[in-house]
Amino acid sequence: MILPGGTVGVLGGGQLGRMMALAARRMGYRIVVLDPSASCPTAQVSDDVVVGALTDVEAAKQLAKKVDVITLDTEHVPADVLDQLEAITPVRPAASVLRTIQDRQTQKQFLDKLGMPQAKWAPCEDVDKALGVVGRPAIVKVRRAGYDGKGQIRIEPGADAKAEFAKLKGEPAVAEALVPFAREISVILARGMRGEIAIYPLAENVHRRHILHTTRAPAPISAQGKKRAEEIGLTVAEALGHVGVIAVEMFELPDGTLLVNEIAPRTHNSGHYTYGACATTQFEQHVRAVCGLPLGDPRALTGAVMVNLIGDLWRDGAPPWRAVLERPEARLHLYGKDAPAPGRKMGHVVLLDDDTDRALATAEQMITALTPP
Ligand SMILES: Nc1ncnc2c1ncn2[C@@H]1O[C@H](COP(=O)(O)OP(=O)(O)OP(=O)(O)O)[C@@H](O)[C@H]1O
Ligand SMILES: [Mg+2]
Repeated sequence: MILPGGTVGVLGGGQLGRMMALAARRMGYRIVVLDPSASCPTAQVSDDVVVGALTDVEAAKQLAKKVDVITLDTEHVPADVLDQLEAITPVRPAASVLRTIQDRQTQKQFLDKLGMPQAKWAPCEDVDKALGVVGRPAIVKVRRAGYDGKGQIRIEPGADAKAEFAKLKGEPAVAEALVPFAREISVILARGMRGEIAIYPLAENVHRRHILHTTRAPAPISAQGKKRAEEIGLTVAEALGHVGVIAVEMFELPDGTLLVNEIAPRTHNSGHYTYGACATTQFEQHVRAVCGLPLGDPRALTGAVMVNLIGDLWRDGAPPWRAVLERPEARLHLYGKDAPAPGRKMGHVVLLDDDTDRALATAEQMITALTPP
């Protein structure tokens, strides 16, 4: 058990690392982060930073020597790097978990083997052959390093598949059938070192331009759907032998069937609502899990809606924050990123409200007020 006063190392210095670092430091832990930028969102709130790429084994080893446990802000740290760190200090989640997840094809094979329901998929070396399996419309996704819909193309029934596929520039890819979902949900849970589990209220997610737009919790889903979603999340976490927070993204079909979209072995954007809405935030929970502490209470204290703040809102400079700050139920989170590029996640707002329909409407009004004319 790594008690407060100990040091947690984080590979990757994005917003997830930042919010985890804030939670960890509140509990008395020290934080050291590895990132290419000394002023990344996590480094701004850390005790120490090692500057280096996430593929830089020597830099990662330097971090490993300074900490009691290593965890991750992103699943895109090469598993081979993690293997080498495991010889120096515990890595949680383990290299083996990352190896299963970070390649979409390996992840899909793992889910098939577990008997988890998924959209029809096929390896995509030859795009025509792959579309022969999954049909059209289809989505082709690069196997590695995608996020926020990056590295994905949609192939419509009438499209020139070869020309579309060429946009991925020969990156290894998988093809998936387009899912006519009624709703997207995610299960966020934590698994501790002794296999103990804490499951958060189910989240309902709406994406815009392939980027998460809003999360509502609890998701308005049947008791049976909730039970099934939780079972899927649990099965995946157990089979991976995961330690830490994990998110399983799912599609719900109009008839209630659930399909797994993807697994994120870390804290997740759709779990940001837990900060404020739940007794234990996903970030504290992750620290507890990877340090071997007992897990905290995941219970919701209120309903909530989270809305992401995307770089487009900064087109004319900083948005008029009054629209957020004047609402007593709104909590503003900004990540300290210097370059507000379009499509980049810059922050989010959590609205604490048991009436989540009302909160969703408020979120839209707020985004309208923050959007440049
Ligand atoms: N097969 C599919 N059918 C329908 N919609 C899809 C499909 N795959 C992806 N999408 C849509 O695109 C979104 C992003 O896809 P996915 O989760 O695969 O991408 P990602 O780049 O890993 O994103 P992130 O890391 O932000 O979750 C999904 O949440 C969903 O809205
Ligand atoms: Mg996703």
